[in-house]
Amino acid sequence: MARGLSEERYNAGARALHWAIAVLILVNIALGLLHEPLDGVVSLMPVHKAIGMSVLALSVLRLVWRMTWTAPPYPETMSGLEVLMAKLVHVALYLFMLAMPLTGWIMASSGKYPLTWFGLFDLPKLSVTKGSALVELSDGFHSIGGWLLLALALGHAAAALRHHFVLRDGVLRRML
Ligand code: HEM
Ligand code: HEM
Repeated sequence: MARGLSEERYNAGARALHWAIAVLILVNIALGLLHEPLDGVVSLMPVHKAIGMSVLALSVLRLVWRMTWTAPPYPETMSGLEVLMAKLVHVALYLFMLAMPLTGWIMASSGKYPLTWFGLFDLPKLSVTKGSALVELSDGFHSIGGWLLLALALGHAAAALRHHFVLRDGVLRRML
């Protein structure tokens, strides 16, 4: 492999899951933020909940799959600090990919509405009580977490674009 150029790609499963989850998360942040302004016009919450629960299932699948392979190497031109930063952001993204759906699930379980997957089948509700500390904490985390996840994802995407257009070191191509 040429020094400074990464040629090996993430495997097909990792790439498919990465892009499916990325699109679903970005759509869901938009739906979450638009649900109140559009209240009375269109009910976005059922779709938001179903997409969020899909993100949870796909993220668990992705993490299990992640444990079965080693990521392609970084180009040698990247410093130890850059690699460490990239890995820390990935860990944070994985945590939010689980924490956002889980806190949403806790919140939705305390409400009166049924939890369905696009109206096709019911999803189980957790045994939690409205007004409990867990539900309140989840609500608080979910509201702030959406913005934090968006900031992380934008920073992560900006770094990927910098690798592609400025450094031209093949890092983005590993995920395409
Ligand atoms: C990819 C996963 C998810 C993301 C990124 C996400 C993001 C968001 C965002 C940004 C908001 C708006 C928060 C605000 O304006 O205060 C929101 C609200 C909400 N989300 Fe999620 N969400 C996800 C998954 C879920 C799931 C799985 C459920 C339930 C099963 C859920 C239930 C809710 C509810 C009930 C609200 C409204 C909260 C309120 O109005 O107080 N979310 N979500
Ligand atoms: C909500 C959106 C996104 C999430 C949650 C996300 C999450 C992740 C995670 C967790 C990894 C680590 C993969 C692993 O080694 O296990 C990763 C890698 C990667 N992502 Fe994203 N991603 C998102 C959006 C994007 C976007 C928009 C781009 C491109 C502009 C991008 C480009 C990449 C690249 C190039 C890698 C491999 C980088 C490396 O190995 O350091 N991602 N992503």
